[in-house]
Amino acid sequence: MFDDETQCVVLVGVQWGDEGKGKITDVLAEQATLVARYQGGANAGHTVLVGDEEEFILHLVPSGALYPDVRCLLGNGVVLDPWTLIDEIEMLTTRGVEIEHRVGVSRRAHLVLPYHKQLDGAKEASKGADRIGTTKRGIGPAYRDKISRNGLRVCDLADRDYCWNVVREGTSTANVFLAHFGVDERADPDAVMSELAAVTPRILALGTDTGAEIRTELAGGGRVLLEGAQGSLLDVDHGTYPFVTSSTTTAGGAAAGVGIGPTLIDEVLGVVKAYTTRVGAGPFPTELEGADADRLRNLGAEFGATTGRPRRPGWFDGVLVRHAAGVNGLTGLAVTKLDVLDSFDELLLGVGYELDGVATTGFPERAADIQRVRPVYEKEAGWESDTGACRSWDELPEAARHYLKRIESASKVPIRLVSVGSARSQIIRVG
Ligand code: IMP
Repeated sequence: MFDDETQCVVLVGVQWGDEGKGKITDVLAEQATLVARYQGGANAGHTVLVGDEEEFILHLVPSGALYPDVRCLLGNGVVLDPWTLIDEIEMLTTRGVEIEHRVGVSRRAHLVLPYHKQLDGAKEASKGADRIGTTKRGIGPAYRDKISRNGLRVCDLADRDYCWNVVREGTSTANVFLAHFGVDERADPDAVMSELAAVTPRILALGTDTGAEIRTELAGGGRVLLEGAQGSLLDVDHGTYPFVTSSTTTAGGAAAGVGIGPTLIDEVLGVVKAYTTRVGAGPFPTELEGADADRLRNLGAEFGATTGRPRRPGWFDGVLVRHAAGVNGLTGLAVTKLDVLDSFDELLLGVGYELDGVATTGFPERAADIQRVRPVYEKEAGWESDTGACRSWDELPEAARHYLKRIESASKVPIRLVSVGSARSQIIRVG
């Protein structure tokens, strides 16, 4: 992906997250000098296999962490849970990955505080069957405080009085909401302040200006990967609102989320699973149920990396991918988990939607409509053979190549990478 013309690549999830971005980031990070996350927080869960068997699950630190010379940044668009970050740095250090001197966090990044997590959990519980199915990592409440100008940023940790004022106000508002949501627990400003005091020196030491760092890196000939978390259909504007996360997951958010101009971005690579999954509530037109769903879930080990929840599986949805391709301006696709489909004798591939018997012209805006659409499917022959050992396009079975070509024509984006297993080596470069 990186070459003399391509110095800055954005990597985004094309579906509802869990596309296997960790694996692809890890593959690209081998050629990168700097990897930065631009949105989301500890709701993400990237699974990366090193040496074909050692598994790392990362929630905040970018996947580039596993290459010893890569600088890893968390941009201003991220909401940072400082305790999770420190735990993750310690986990990596204990497992032999020296990381602390390579991580930087934007001084402009907002913090996820304990009362954000309390509010996330209490709100979800109060909504019963209407809940979003969040990861309960405090993401929505932290972004709400940011946008409503009540947030606390990394740079603010240097000013204890300022922190106290924000925390006092934040806990007092949180307690009104907690009472409204019908829970007994309350936020305690003194407890928050002492928990913050325990991490302040380490977090301040990691503080940086991520935009300035990235601009300098690019000017010096470095290679920068901007890593998105979640997926395009969880984007707060372009996803299946309100069943979305609270940030701009799509490529447009990358520049603002680290502090550079969009003109510095050369390529946008979309990571797409060879089928579809979703975790949490919300509409899912090509969702499978019953035995087929169990089969795909088990073959693909489709359980959330952050919450362990079983993911909802379904067929590949070309309408959704075309929508994401347009919103992100995708220049290439990385198709993951092709091998999961190896044993199917027949596959369905969604190529259109009908709403009340009429073909839709695009991806509907309203969740209620997305819930009601009927997918139009094409049948594709399965290949019923093992693709895990394939390392080139030509080694793939004919039917698998045909299936991939159909993904390409449905999304109108060229395929650049195909992943045929979780190991680093199980990757096919196309073109
Ligand atoms: P939140 O981001 O925790 O507020 O959750 C909002 C929605 O995004 C829920 O449906 C979550 O399941 C989903 N979500 C958040 N992070 C991820 C992720 O990394 N992968 C897949 N789904 C996610």
